[in-house]
Amino acid sequence: MTNVMKPGMARIFPSSTEVNERVEALLKRMSLEEKIGQLNQVGGAEFSPGPKAEDQIRRGGAGSVLWLNNTTRFNELQKIAVEESPSGIPLLFALDVIHGYRTIFPVPLAMASSWDPAVPEKSQSVAAREARAAGLHWTFGPMLDIARDARWGRIVEGAGEDPYLGAAMAAAQVRGFQGDDLSDPERVLACAKHFAGYGAADGGRDYDPVYLSEAQLRNTYLPPFEAAVKAGVATFMSAYMDLNNVPASANRFLLRQVLRQEWGFEGFVVSDAFAVGNLVIQGHARDRRDAALRGLKAGLNMDMSSYTYPENLASLVADGALSEAEIEEMARPILALKVKMGLFEQPYVNENLLEQVVARPEHRQMARWAAQRSMVLLRNEGGLLPLKKDLQKVAVIGPLADSMESTEGSWMVFGHKPAAVTVLQGIRARLTGAQVTYAPGPEIRRDIPSWFEGAMAGFTSKPAQTPEEGEAAFQAAVETARAAELVVMVLGETDLMAGEAASRASLDLPGRQEELLKAVAGLGKPIVLVLLNGRPLSVNWAAEHIPAILEAWEPGSEGGHAVADILFGDVNPGGKLPVSFPRKGSHAPLYYARNLTHSPEGSPMYNPRYWDGLPVPLYPFGYGLSYTTFEFSNLKVSAPQVKVGGSLAVSVDVTNSGKVTGDEVAQLYIHQRWGSDSRPLRELKGFERLKLQPGETKTVTFHLGPDELRYWSTNTGGWIQEAAAFDIWVGADSMAKLHADFEIVG
Ligand code: GLC
Repeated sequence: MTNVMKPGMARIFPSSTEVNERVEALLKRMSLEEKIGQLNQVGGAEFSPGPKAEDQIRRGGAGSVLWLNNTTRFNELQKIAVEESPSGIPLLFALDVIHGYRTIFPVPLAMASSWDPAVPEKSQSVAAREARAAGLHWTFGPMLDIARDARWGRIVEGAGEDPYLGAAMAAAQVRGFQGDDLSDPERVLACAKHFAGYGAADGGRDYDPVYLSEAQLRNTYLPPFEAAVKAGVATFMSAYMDLNNVPASANRFLLRQVLRQEWGFEGFVVSDAFAVGNLVIQGHARDRRDAALRGLKAGLNMDMSSYTYPENLASLVADGALSEAEIEEMARPILALKVKMGLFEQPYVNENLLEQVVARPEHRQMARWAAQRSMVLLRNEGGLLPLKKDLQKVAVIGPLADSMESTEGSWMVFGHKPAAVTVLQGIRARLTGAQVTYAPGPEIRRDIPSWFEGAMAGFTSKPAQTPEEGEAAFQAAVETARAAELVVMVLGETDLMAGEAASRASLDLPGRQEELLKAVAGLGKPIVLVLLNGRPLSVNWAAEHIPAILEAWEPGSEGGHAVADILFGDVNPGGKLPVSFPRKGSHAPLYYARNLTHSPEGSPMYNPRYWDGLPVPLYPFGYGLSYTTFEFSNLKVSAPQVKVGGSLAVSVDVTNSGKVTGDEVAQLYIHQRWGSDSRPLRELKGFERLKLQPGETKTVTFHLGPDELRYWSTNTGGWIQEAAAFDIWVGADSMAKLHADFEIVG
C-alpha cells in the first residue's frame, strides 16, 4: 500500500463527466441511511460523544472521521468502510493542520506578516505532504476570518485586519494545501473557515454574536472567502456564532445565496464542531430534529460530530419534511471529492511513509525560511541590531525564552510533541564560544485556564508558582542579567493565551513581564526584546525604552534559529504588520481602513476620541523596519482620468538607500473622496515585497481596475464602481506619505 506516485504512474484525472457518472452510479446503489451517512462526520477521539466510530462506519453511517491522528488506526477504520460497509465508500480523515503537521511553520498571522504569498503557499504544501503521509485527507484550514479586534484570541489563526492582504493569503494557502490536482497523493483538501464574520464578535469575545451590515460583510469579511473559492477550495466550514441573529450553520444567506448562487461554489460545507446540535443551545432551533432540518435546508452538507443528521434526517424524509433528493444534493459534492481524490482506487496509506517524508531536510529548511520572512523589526534605535558575533556574555531572560510550546504556537495537531528550537537554543547555537546564560523569571499563565488544557490528551498543567517562588525567579533573572554584557528578553504570551477560547480584555504583557523588563532595563545594559505572541500586544513602555524590538510571533519548529539569524544579521528582517497594534485593549476594535467622519485626525476639528488617551496605534498596519533604509520616489499614474470600467497603472521607484541588502514591501493605498457611500480613508489595493541591493532602485507597477475600485454600496444595495476623485499613497506602511491622485469619470 502506498500513496506516493511512482514514476510513470498516471495521475487519476477523472473528468467532471466521469466524476458525475461515478457519483450518480454510487447514489443509485446506496440506501437512504448510507446517503445520510456521508453527511455525518464522526469524532475519532476519546472525548468525542456519540456511538462508537467503527460501528457507524460498518453500517455506512459515516462519511468522515475527525480528531484522530493515528496512521494505523486510519487504515483500520478505512478497511471497515471499504470492505465491510454496504457500499464500500472510503472515509475522509480530517484534522486541524493549521500551520504544520510535524514540521511546524509560523502561525498564519506570522505568515501574513511576510507579505509574501509564497510563504503560506510553500509552508502549507509541506504541511499537506506530511499530513497526507500520515493518512489525513482534509485539513480544517485556511482560517480566513478578518480580525480587527486584537482581544479576539483567534486573530492568531488568520491573516489580520485587511481584506486585500487576507484574500492574497487565502488563495496562497489553498494552493499550498491542494495544489492544482486533487488526485495528487501529496495534497489534502482545504477548508475555508469560519464562514463568516466570526472575527467581529462583540468585544472580541470568542463565540459571541456578530452584527455586521451587508456592506461590512461584502467589503471586509467576505473577500478572503471569495478568493478561496476562486482558488478552488474544496470545502468550507460554517462558523459557530450568530450572524445578525442567524447562526452561520443555519444561514441560507451565507450558505446558499452567497456561497453557491453568487460564487458558484461546488464543494461541500461542514459545520464547526457540534454546531448543528448547538442550534438548540443558541436558542435558534426548537430541538435537535429542528436543528437538523434547518442545517440541511440552509445548505449545510456535513454535521461535525453532533449526530443530529443520522438521528433525524431519515425520519424527516419519512415525514415529508425533506426529500431524498435534498439528501442526495448534500451528498453529491462529498462523493465527488472522494472520486476526484482517487480514494476509491487508493483508500489506504503506507504506514512507513510519514517518517520518510518528515525526514526530508527541505521541510525544516522551509520552516526556517518562512519564520525568517515572517518576523517584523519594530524598533532598532542606535543600530543595536544586528548584534556582534564576538559577544562573550549574553543573558537570555523570560518565561518564553526556552518554551517549545510557545515557539511552535497555537493549534498543534492532536498528539504532537513540541520539538521547536527555542530562542535560547537558537542563540546558543549561534554563539558557540560565548557564555549564554538563561533565567525564565516568574511564570505566566492564564487567569482562567483554557478548556483545551483538559481536552488535549497528554496536557498536564503544572501547579501554579507561588508568589514567593515567583519573586525568587524574578530576582534570579535580574541577577542573571546583571552578570551579562547584553540581554535578550523573550516575552509575550504562551501558546494557550491566543487561539480558540482565548480572548482577553487586556493586551498588556501578562504577569510580571513588564515589571521584569523595567528592572532589567534599570541595569543599564543593552537590551533586545523578542516578542513571542499570537496577537498584537500593547508594549507601550518597551516601545519607548527598549532600543531593539523584534516581533517573532509564534515562529514554529525553527523559530529559535530564525530569531538568531535575524538578531546576528545573517538575515535582514523584511516583515510588515498585518494588524494594527492598539495602545490598550479597550481601544479595540482598531484598524486603519476606517471612515473619515466629520472630525478626522489631523484636522482642526479633530476631537480626541477618548479624553484619557488617543487611540492612535502603537504600530500601524503595514509597519516594519529593516537593517537598511529605503526611499520611495517618482510616483506616477498612467492617466489623470479613466472612465468607469477602465484601468490605470501606478508606478513608483523604490531605492535601497542603506548599506546592506534588504527587502521592502511597497504598499499602495487608495481613498475615494466621495461616492454613493462614504469610503475608508485608506484601503490597501496593491503590495509587492522586493529585494534590493544597496543603492539599487526598482520600479514597481500596480494596476487599478474595476476589481480594485468597486465596492458594495449600502445606498444602492449592490456592487458599484462610480465616477469620483481618488487619492493614492504608496510607501512602506499604511501611513505612507507619497501622494498622487486621479479621477474616474462617468
Ligand atoms: C473547533 C474550531 C474549528 C476546528 C474544529 C475542529 O472548535 O472552531 O476551527 O476546525 O473545531 O477541530
